[in-house]
Amino acid sequence: MGTYAIAGNSGSAGKTTTVVTEAVLLAERGFTVRVIDVDPQANASTWLGHVDAPAPTVADVLRGHRSIADVERPARVILDIDAETGQPVYDDEETIPGVTVVPALRSTLDSLVVELASQPGAVLNLQDALRDASPVDVTLIDCPGSLNVLVTAGLLATAADDERGLITCVKPSGKEVEGIPALQQELANMRRIYKESIELVSVIPCAVPPQGAVYEEQLAALRDWLGDRVAPSIRRRAIVDEAYTNYVPLPLYGHRAKDVVADYNAVIDHQLAAGLLAKRSQVA
Ligand SMILES: Nc1ncnc2c1ncn2[C@@H]1O[C@H](COP(=O)(O)OP(=O)(O)OP(=O)(O)O)[C@@H](O)[C@H]1O
Ligand SMILES: [Mg+2]
Repeated sequence: MGTYAIAGNSGSAGKTTTVVTEAVLLAERGFTVRVIDVDPQANASTWLGHVDAPAPTVADVLRGHRSIADVERPARVILDIDAETGQPVYDDEETIPGVTVVPALRSTLDSLVVELASQPGAVLNLQDALRDASPVDVTLIDCPGSLNVLVTAGLLATAADDERGLITCVKPSGKEVEGIPALQQELANMRRIYKESIELVSVIPCAVPPQGAVYEEQLAALRDWLGDRVAPSIRRRAIVDEAYTNYVPLPLYGHRAKDVVADYNAVIDHQLAAGLLAKRSQVA
């Protein structure tokens, strides 16, 4: 079992793409995967078949009003886009086996930032809910792209599990990489304030252009600094945007996505080799 927050303090680094793609690929390998969306943009929910999710949603879990079981639902595959409304069409029978989602409703989490920050202890509600939730192999918590109380709640929630950690995504262009010390500071705060030990366990270079000395230098510097925690790179491909626009996770998007999907499989192999993402039966 393992519970991981995917967070970073720069937006558009590839976090949601990584969460959704890894979730589907892990399920294809026989894992059960729970995706928890704590990002007000609700992109992971959209990608996993729950656009405009009706209540209850993750907001109710973050408030401490609902359990995971109340909110969790199977991830679904899009069937069609309604020609009149432009909205995706789903059928509850058409699920992604092995993947469930605790969805967010777009924009409803913004007000929660203020609410959670003003209630001492509320930041631990998601952790409490996960302690009571039915076990799955891997839980991935998709966090917003700036450090706020939702990220704190997501990071603290990983401590519901013995196998836990922070996974971050970087576009290796300097700015994002420079954000890693701020993340490490956030983890230090978790230790100091909440007495929870959460480590940065994996750094995934995302949307890496095919060639370019600058990127190669930056990747080499990242590996010198963080060693084996740096996963193999995910290449930059326009198909990623296309798949999202069509509401389809990359592994289900057909052969044109196969090279970027292969990159994500290499990341999973790397993470498994590092002892992350263990299946329940494999945990001693
Ligand atoms: N490998 C890739 N190649 C090309 N584009 C990519 C790749 N990965 C992600 N993108 C694009 O980059 C943008 C941001 O990706 P994504 O939403 O996964 O990032 P994020 O870190 O979750 O962002 P946010 O901080 O806003 O939540 C999206 O438009 C996505 O399609
Ligand atoms: Mg995102």
